[in-house]
Amino acid sequence: GETPQGARPLSGRHLLVTSGPTHEPIDPVRYLANRSSGKQGHAIAAAAAAAGARVTLISGPVVLADPPGVTVVRVETAREMLAAVEAALPADIAVFAAAVADWRPATLGDEKIKKGPDGPPPLRLTENPDILATIAHRSEGRPPLVVGFAAETTDVIAHARAKIARKGCDLIVANDVSTATGVMGGDRNTVQLIGRDGSLETWPTLAKDEVARRLVTRLAELASIAH
Ligand code: CTP
Ligand code: CA
Repeated sequence: GETPQGARPLSGRHLLVTSGPTHEPIDPVRYLANRSSGKQGHAIAAAAAAAGARVTLISGPVVLADPPGVTVVRVETAREMLAAVEAALPADIAVFAAAVADWRPATLGDEKIKKGPDGPPPLRLTENPDILATIAHRSEGRPPLVVGFAAETTDVIAHARAKIARKGCDLIVANDVSTATGVMGGDRNTVQLIGRDGSLETWPTLAKDEVARRLVTRLAELASIAH
């Protein structure tokens, strides 16, 4: 039979998850966004709550229901997401599954941009803060286990390995988000787990819920080693 500890391997832990896209306003009625549905991040939050964790889910704009037993903080922009993550710390485990917009419009007017004789307005962009790198590189209050995702369309493993080093996280969940894979917005995901030690594990194509359950089982193992 299963012990209570085995059934709820994350009890007593606080797990923080980011999920969904961010929306970066251009003017009061327009924004930049991406195709993330939030399904994978929300499934991780749900699986972690089912495994006994106290879960804080920081979510960009999604159409999904709040997972049961999870504290959900809704945000719109990357900068709001970073502030919400910092406010939710400390955490034992942080999983950065959100598809954070890399750039936002450099200026934000109070008024709707109007068409005019000068043609389309220039859309100047500026870089958003990197939430994962900011948290993983903290000298104080860094969660003992920091997990990133890597959305790639080519050279998945090479890019993911570079990301793990650059961002300072412990584990990267890499996935191929080429349009043909249907990962963005779809219900299934094919992921590879890349460890800081160079380890590589390829999982079969699975429902996002199943990816979430397996990942949570793995995180519980790693967290019990980290403590
Ligand atoms: N991430 C983040 N904040 C950002 C950008 C990315 O927290 N401003 C996180 C994502 O949640 C993910 C990881 O960083 O866990 C990798 O995101 P990805 O978009 O794959 O990598 P980038 O570093 O943004 O590089 P690029 O998009 O150029 O591949
Ligand atoms: Ca990016």
